[in-house]
Amino acid sequence: MKIAAQTTAADDRELLRSAAVTAGIIAAGYFRKDLKTWTKENASPVSEADIALDKFLKSALLAARPDYGWLSEESVDNPDRLSHRRVFVVDPIDGTRGFIRGEDSWTVSLAVVEDGVSVASVVYAPARDEMYDAAIGEGAQLNGKPLIRQRNPGRSAPLIPAPGAVHQELQVAGLNYTRGPAYPSLAYRLVQVATGKLDAAVTRRGASDWDVAGAACILAEVGIDFEDVCIGALRFNRPEIRHGALAALVEPSLKAPLHAALVKVYGCPQPQQVDLERLTP
Ligand code: IPD
Ligand code: CA
Ligand code: CA
Repeated sequence: MKIAAQTTAADDRELLRSAAVTAGIIAAGYFRKDLKTWTKENASPVSEADIALDKFLKSALLAARPDYGWLSEESVDNPDRLSHRRVFVVDPIDGTRGFIRGEDSWTVSLAVVEDGVSVASVVYAPARDEMYDAAIGEGAQLNGKPLIRQRNPGRSAPLIPAPGAVHQELQVAGLNYTRGPAYPSLAYRLVQVATGKLDAAVTRRGASDWDVAGAACILAEVGIDFEDVCIGALRFNRPEIRHGALAALVEPSLKAPLHAALVKVYGCPQPQQVDLERLTP
């Protein structure tokens, strides 16, 4: 296992912030312009902007921290990342569908993961001029101001976006809530739970490390409950990078109905599968 140099999570937060700002400038050269797009094997869209950002981020971040590993949605996965204690986990553009449509809530989502935990991260929405960042033990901020856990006091019922099948289960369970806006970027949806604009956000089974590691440190620093509904605490940079259904929520009272609805819709792995996953580095 390679040992990273003695940079702190706060140093890494600064590095990620500066790389994200430059990535945002590069992305602006493609946003709302004639853009080459295509579809990946898993039917998700990708564009030349995703690839350009990945190239820039990989060279800038690894030049600054040559002893860190690398995991990105747009780079071929290399098992070498498993031999590094610290790894960059990168989604160059999260919410590519929205980016291609010219909507403004797409994000650059970056994290440094140490021993499986997201310890420094940014979720940057350049077209909205919103920079969310955090370092473990140092708190989270939005555009340099501390992010404090809060609920929107003007809202009578919780605001929760979710896939249709999950809404159906929540209604059957009798939860009193309002269906929230489904921003195309999962990272953006998740950090809105930290701002209090949303009361909860959920993911289907199958989100990858790069979709959630950026938001994970921010949510943890704000004190938001963000877990896999079947196995609990999130771990990143494992051989299997896909996750089960996840839920981020402000109010503890939302946990039982949300977790139950997600388990009902997406199920849980068999106990022996969970044990094997826990034993895998
Ligand atoms: C997608 C977005 C979307 C989520 C998908 C992700 P991408 O990421 O975050 O909100 O529902 O699961 O794959 O392809 O835009 O980076
Ligand atoms: Ca993504
Ligand atoms: Ca992406």
